This record gives sequence, structure tokens and C-alpha cells, in this order.
Amino acid sequence: MTSILENRPALAKEVNKVAEVAGYLWQKGWAERNGGNITINITEYVDEEMRLMIPISEVKPIGATLPHLKGCYFYCKGTNKRMRDLARWPMENGSVIRIMDDCASYVIIADQPVQPTSELPSHLSVHNYLIAKGSPYKASVHTHPIELIAMTHSKKYLEKDVATNLLWSMIPETKAFCPRGLGIIPYKLPSSVDLAEATIKELADYDVVMWEKHGVFAVDCDVMQAFDQIDVLNKSALIYIAAKNMGFEPDGMTPAQMKEMSVAFHLPK
Ligand code: 13P
Ligand code: ZN
Repeated sequence: MTSILENRPALAKEVNKVAEVAGYLWQKGWAERNGGNITINITEYVDEEMRLMIPISEVKPIGATLPHLKGCYFYCKGTNKRMRDLARWPMENGSVIRIMDDCASYVIIADQPVQPTSELPSHLSVHNYLIAKGSPYKASVHTHPIELIAMTHSKKYLEKDVATNLLWSMIPETKAFCPRGLGIIPYKLPSSVDLAEATIKELADYDVVMWEKHGVFAVDCDVMQAFDQIDVLNKSALIYIAAKNMGFEPDGMTPAQMKEMSVAFHLPK
């Protein structure tokens, strides 16, 4: 069977990056069973032949009307598919979808009729928001990072920017490489439109948002960069926990050291 990736090296490169990140998520223990999902906007790689491809699924509703997605194409992890499998076989554990002209439904066009992730409403609402704002971001990653999720089981870390400031102060690079911090979204039902709407609101101020007691959702130019933002935040959480396990509350960088970092790295906050 031929794959949509054949003779499309630029598209294959992006999908292979998704596979590489899926492997990292599994290795980190953030992707139990089918946990987590990734979508990427691949519209820029679409050629005439792809536009003419005959759907291999019926027309399915997105659950929301997303006007900026007209004519867009996405690679999506399949629902119930495992990251550890996707790492090796991205086109058997994910598929390419085309958004229909009504902007409220989609069809699968390749390689196999793998049903996209149950978090599709959140992912597509976010891509719609990113396009509307003229953002260069093309990737969205949802994953279950252990230590960051653990923090959301305490009310104190759910207060605005408490977790952000704590995580930034653990090691200078965290603020440099996750400069907008970690937004917090109070618990909502997984895969709900409510969760999608809350996610878009929070992404106005953050690139990475936490779904309380569930996982994080990150956006960036490509899947590798979205992963890196989550990775630096979780590294800080690990440093915090390591210090606590040694029996003390870590000091954190001082406000003066944080300020110096922000100026030196031209950071927004
Ligand atoms: P999917 O298998 O449908 O992608 O769901 C995984 C998940 O993490 C839901 O939040
Ligand atoms: Zn999840």
C-alpha cells in the first residue's frame, strides 16, 4: 500500500518529527496506554493531488464550527492509539484529515481510516485560534507529564502564576525556553467543547496550559518545540520535588536573578 508520505519529503519530515516526539513521551512515562495526542497543521505541504484525494471515511462532525480551518489539512494521532506504537508506525496510528467547506466537519483522506483523537475539538479549536491570530504555530501536543500533573492536586499551585513563578525559579533555562509560563485551566471533562473553549482563552497568555489533574496542552511552531516547552517545565518540577525529597524547601532564584535573566534574554514577562 502506498503512503501519502511517499514522494512528499517535507510532509514526511513533519510526520516523522511527530513520531520522534511520540517516542520521547513514551520514554518519559507521560504516555500510558493511549494517553496524550498530537495534531499538526500540514496545509502548507498540500499539493493538487492531495486536494483531489477521495475520502476514505464518511463526513464526521468536529463538534464546533471553526471558520479559519476552511481548506485546511491536519495529521492527527488516532483515538485509542498508543504513542509507543505511533513512534514506529505514524501512519497506522494516526491519519490525515481534510476540513470540509462547512468548517464544522471533516473527512479522513490517508493512509487508513484511523479515527482522530477524542481531543480533536480542543486541537482544532486551537488551530483555528492560531490561524485567526496570524500565529506561525503549527503543532499542538497534549500529554500527561507526571510531576506537573501531581502539582495540580494542590490548590496552591492552581492560583494564577504560582506554578509558573516557582518553575521558572528552579533553573534559569526554564524561563528562557518557556517564556510565557504555564496557564492553569480548572478541571473539565476530557474531550469536551468546554475544555476546548477554556484552552483557547488561556492560550492568549501562555504557550503551555495545564488541564487540572489531567495533563498539559502546548503549542509551538513545530512538534519538537512544543515538546521542549513541556520538557523544560517538567524538568523544573523534578528539581523542585528532588529538593523537597532531600528535606528542604528550595530557595529558587532570587527576584533580582529572574529580572536579570528576563533582560538578558529579552523575555516578554
Ligand atoms: P485519545 O486516545 O483519544 O487521543 O485520548 C487520549 C487522551 O489523553 C485524552 O485526553
Ligand atoms: Zn489526556
